[in-house]
Amino acid sequence: MVRVTDTWQVEPSGPLRGDISVRGSKNAVTKHMVAAMLGDGPSTIRNAPEVGDVDITAAMLEAVGYQVARSGDEITVAPNGPVSASTVQPRVPEAFTGLNRIPILMLGPLLHRAGEAFVPLVGGDPIGRRPVDFHVNALRALGAEVDASPAGIAAKASRLHGARIELPYPSVGATETVLLSAVLAEGKTVLRNAATEPEVVELALFLQRMGAHIELSPDRRIVIEGVPRLRGATRWLAGDRLEAFSYLVAGLITRGEVRVHGCPQDRLVTAITTLATMGAQFDITDDAITASAPAGLRPAAVHTDTHPGFMTDWQQPLMVLFTQAEGMSVLHETVFENRLVYVPALQKMGCEIETFAACLGGPACRFHDTNSAHSAVIRGVSKLRGADVTLPDVRAGFSAVLAAAVADRPSVLRGIHHIERGYHRPFQQFAALGLTIRRG
Ligand code: EPU
Repeated sequence: MVRVTDTWQVEPSGPLRGDISVRGSKNAVTKHMVAAMLGDGPSTIRNAPEVGDVDITAAMLEAVGYQVARSGDEITVAPNGPVSASTVQPRVPEAFTGLNRIPILMLGPLLHRAGEAFVPLVGGDPIGRRPVDFHVNALRALGAEVDASPAGIAAKASRLHGARIELPYPSVGATETVLLSAVLAEGKTVLRNAATEPEVVELALFLQRMGAHIELSPDRRIVIEGVPRLRGATRWLAGDRLEAFSYLVAGLITRGEVRVHGCPQDRLVTAITTLATMGAQFDITDDAITASAPAGLRPAAVHTDTHPGFMTDWQQPLMVLFTQAEGMSVLHETVFENRLVYVPALQKMGCEIETFAACLGGPACRFHDTNSAHSAVIRGVSKLRGADVTLPDVRAGFSAVLAAAVADRPSVLRGIHHIERGYHRPFQQFAALGLTIRRG
């Protein structure tokens, strides 16, 4: 992906209308790329988005000895020669420190390939402490010797073995670590309190296609029977539910109408119902989902949750939408304790948002006795003004574009690479809907 500039000037442009297609999500494609490390032959991921996180993940895979080829919307990951310890470098270079959340997921595959592994400290958005203790404890349970230091995590294991693991919280990443490590371990692994997000299920389906024995039970239990080897596989990714939601909101907030293609309805059930409760009208077909709000929007109280609840990555566009609904709304973030860090940027643009450490508008969450500002009260309709803002993270960055689209004058948004890390060609998508953006 070639970045032209890291700054956008966004002009308020009236109602956004039109059709867009979403590709697979960053949070599925990158995990599929790591899973491909486990195959004896090449694997291909189709309908892959062009996002910065793919570039970072491809560079990490190449650094440890895999070949990554891209053609159109396909990514192929292949072992560099015959699969043996000699073809894999067990160290992910420290140059990748802090770039995204993927290195920790590479520990299991590197252990299987090389018997040892080192990954630098993981990064990702600054939305909470984001510890990796669940990952480390799971790997230890699977038989790895794990040593965490300020530089990163080192692990050793001649062969991983099956284990009974219960996660303290249904973490997406830790569930993926267990999947990626247990599929080639010796014996059976039973994972309790696993995440069930669609991206996790997609990863399990890909691993099954590679030859893994995985049972998904209804009670957040995943049973994995280790197999001696996996083959390469091909899989088409379903459209990104975060992007789909974000562009539907772009239409609603500007009093326009956006039709999103490529994201199955079942990935958006809670999102659609939440927006419908606020007064949005939907037209849903097998091909596309369209949202509009001709009569305006009502406020709501929403708390984020694990799947199938209202996902934490939907809350930032919703926050801006709340500022344009008539009345007082409440948002309670229960997944990451620090995910409202972007609120000052929106306040600068005139959003009337107040944050609280208390759990508002719903049941108490894990953060109720902390000082983390994880609830917000939003007053609508806020009169938004154009501003010069620096984007703190990927989802918050998209929200700032939404706010700029309904502001009274042009805005300068800096740090566009955050948006490009997770959204497929956002400049082109917004332009297709009629938003006027100038680069630079
Ligand atoms: N947690 C721990 N210890 C761990 C792992 C997680 O305490 O070892 C806690 C986290 O601090 C958090 C909660 O568990 O409070 C949930 O974290 P989870 O592990 O589920 O999140 P993640 O795997 O780090 C992924 C996505 C996020 C998405 C969340 C929740 C990727 C690369 N990231 O993060 O996406 O919000 O799941 O669905 O898949 C984004 O794309 O913008 C993004 C942040």
